[in-house]
Amino acid sequence: MIYLDNAATTFPKPQCVIDAVTEFMQKYGGNPGRGGHYLSDIAAEKVLECREEFASLIGTGNPERIIFTKNTTEAINLAIKGTLKKGDEIIISSMEHNSVLRSCVNLEGKGITVKIARADHKGFVSADTVSSLITSHTKMICIIHASNVVGTVNPVREIYKIAQMKGIIMLVDAAQSGGILEIDTSCGDMIAFAGHKALYGPFGTGALYIKPGVFPDTLIEGGTGSLSESALMPNIFPDKYEAGTLNACGIAGLCEGIKFIKREGAYEKELAMARFLREEISAVKGVKILGDPEIGVVGIHTKAHDCVDICTRLNSEYHIASRAGLHCSPMAHRTLGTVTSGLLRFSTGFFNTKEEVSEAAKALEAVTKH
Ligand code: ALA
Repeated sequence: MIYLDNAATTFPKPQCVIDAVTEFMQKYGGNPGRGGHYLSDIAAEKVLECREEFASLIGTGNPERIIFTKNTTEAINLAIKGTLKKGDEIIISSMEHNSVLRSCVNLEGKGITVKIARADHKGFVSADTVSSLITSHTKMICIIHASNVVGTVNPVREIYKIAQMKGIIMLVDAAQSGGILEIDTSCGDMIAFAGHKALYGPFGTGALYIKPGVFPDTLIEGGTGSLSESALMPNIFPDKYEAGTLNACGIAGLCEGIKFIKREGAYEKELAMARFLREEISAVKGVKILGDPEIGVVGIHTKAHDCVDICTRLNSEYHIASRAGLHCSPMAHRTLGTVTSGLLRFSTGFFNTKEEVSEAAKALEAVTKH
């Protein structure tokens, strides 16, 4: 199998991640912060180690501001629903994933105004477009860093500077860029990450970075293993936002995933493979690449073929894994003009080789020839 569906989740995972999960389950499986014994203590140390690795990856000296979630969607829900109140406005781009769109549509029924900053035909949303929508009611801006559909990268630092000048909270969806592009605290007040994509952690891991000075309300409440006598959530980070037992075993794996990308210089390798993917696919006759892919996410369209058919044939005849359809991002497809047809997406990861990418391009050529 040639796996080119790394935007959905990276596969395979590095051996060090698999080993860390196994070791955690075999040796440290206590509940972090919820036991008076060494198994619980070691588990808590592992969680702390991951928080520190994560913090250093994004250049913050405040590891307690890394909140572990089960995925990017939960991180985005916490950031948006914890921030907006009746009468507030939020500006989102037209390239957002359903995690943002559906959260916002839910809030529209509760007196919150949602404005859409329209991206251009390549999926790029300019700082000027966002800026033109700001009013005195704008409380939040939410922008996807790199499109999960076509790999176009948005100018989040530039938009964040405008948000800071106007006192607006900026949320960045870094699900697709975390682990591939440099992301740090100059990108936003809150940044949502997927652990299982280019950070190479297991499923069920994600995180929200919350900058000092920003205090969203909680999304869920429950036990934290701290200040248990209080009926209120502790007003301390990260406890306030981490109700219930953590996915400590997944977090132990994520910790090794982050160390892996630091050790291997993954950014450079991922981007080199992204360029190669784009070159190879653009050489296939009759196939159009949409957007302006800067990361290893290439969305294609052909006039003569249904994208689901191509995906199915690549899988069954050539053992090549890709993803066709709307990629949980109908608004992005509407922006690109592909909401009816969908598109076929190839996405590379750290473990892909040039030979695999070339083989996939050849298979695409064969499947789309007639
Ligand atoms: N959001 C993920 C994707 O783009 C799952 O495939």
